[in-house]
Amino acid sequence: MTKSNKSATLTIDGKSHELPVFSPTAGPDVVDIRKLYAQAHVFTYDPGFTSTASCDSTITFIDGDKGELLHRGYPIDQLAGKSHYLEVCYLLLYGDLPSASQLEDFEARVTNHTMLHEQMHFLFRGFRRDAPPMAIMVGVVGALSAFYHDSTDISDPWQREVASIRMVAKMPTIAAMAFKYTIGQPFEYPRNDLSYAANFLRMCFAVPAENYEVNPILERAMDRIFTLHADHEQNASTSTVRLASSSGANPFACIAAGIACLWGPAHGGANQACLEMLREIGTVDRIPEYIRRAKDKDDDFRLMGFGHRVYKNFDPRATVLKQSADEVLELLGVEDNPVLQVAKALEKAALADDYFAEKKLFPNVDFYSGIILEAMGFPTSMFTPIFAVSRTVGWISQWKEMIADPQLKIGRPRQLYHGATLRDYVDIEKR
Ligand code: SDX
Repeated sequence: MTKSNKSATLTIDGKSHELPVFSPTAGPDVVDIRKLYAQAHVFTYDPGFTSTASCDSTITFIDGDKGELLHRGYPIDQLAGKSHYLEVCYLLLYGDLPSASQLEDFEARVTNHTMLHEQMHFLFRGFRRDAPPMAIMVGVVGALSAFYHDSTDISDPWQREVASIRMVAKMPTIAAMAFKYTIGQPFEYPRNDLSYAANFLRMCFAVPAENYEVNPILERAMDRIFTLHADHEQNASTSTVRLASSSGANPFACIAAGIACLWGPAHGGANQACLEMLREIGTVDRIPEYIRRAKDKDDDFRLMGFGHRVYKNFDPRATVLKQSADEVLELLGVEDNPVLQVAKALEKAALADDYFAEKKLFPNVDFYSGIILEAMGFPTSMFTPIFAVSRTVGWISQWKEMIADPQLKIGRPRQLYHGATLRDYVDIEKR
């Protein structure tokens, strides 16, 4: 943490308390309240963490007003246009863009860890065939610590490195196996001669009965979706991974916790919820009804794929994905797909509506990723698993940063208590 050259004064009950203020390399200053309770015997209150910095990080920076997203300083639109997912993984994990030989070595290490322990295939068979792939992923990823316990000692930097590579490498295989299992098709093994994105598409869509060639446009779109979802500062699932890791739990269990949090429709589950909403709307003429509902305070309906806690401008990832969506839809010749027609008309109607403009509710990454994944032939149940595949490198990068922090403490928030005060037990005869 940089030294503080400013301070803030908090006056409570006539007593003043000086609090150090730290200035970051980008973003707002932070008031250091670590000693507040000891000094003033008060807590701060911020249940949604809307004004709370939970850690000191160097990985990803978001400027919600400008609609800017930087990974180690590089803007997401440049990375999406000029880089590719595994290079962005290297950048997130190790702090800078790799040289050609570093990238070659990293890609080889990931490629050679994509297979899953054969014994783990039996784990999948324990699930019902109609299990949601996200339920399978939470279970199987948590179970990795039962198969790869030679990389669970977080005090050993080498084991941390091995666990990191294993997680990035095996997530596509696990997600594809979860998909295959739920559709009753045999598992496809990863292939070392394919790119990360092509491997995932082949493991999902190839069948033993015929040859499968990956379409390079879909491979590029898949890689771009992976790149755009890789990391996003201290979002809910990343904060979950950090909190779980702060107790010293093994990385596989912590990533499983992150997957569980991502599943929610307010977070990574929004891409699936968005497509289900578009299907429910059904036709363009029903859009006004849903716009009205989204604005109605007495209706808890929200437009899935719209709004963001941080972005009060266009989500820069959505801008890139919107362009990808047009490319994929044109290539696949599905521009007239009714669900996708509704999506385009809904986007237009919401962007033209004062309510969404005033509340700065723009389409977010989940609005367009759902449209592309739908067009690529994925069922909605695979949308959030794909988000989890991509975000694993972000969770792991943030986990590595936190574990290496000499000031690491277990995360243990306090509360604003409004429950019963001290009272004596009453025997049942007297109640
Ligand atoms: C992701 O944090 C991250 O970085 C997440 C993520 C990542 O990469 O990790 O970017 C991925 O999770 C993207 C967001 C996906 N979620 C959705 O698309 C679900 C729909 N969106 C909302 O649920 C909502 O916008 C959130 C959860 C995304 C943000 O909620 P906030 O910041 O807590 O804002 P809020 O709920 O306080 O809403 C502010 C106002 C409210 O109205 P008022 O009470 O002030 O009158 O805006 C309204 C809300 O009712 N509002 C919406 C709305 N989102 C907010 N109204 C209609 N439709 C919506 N989608």
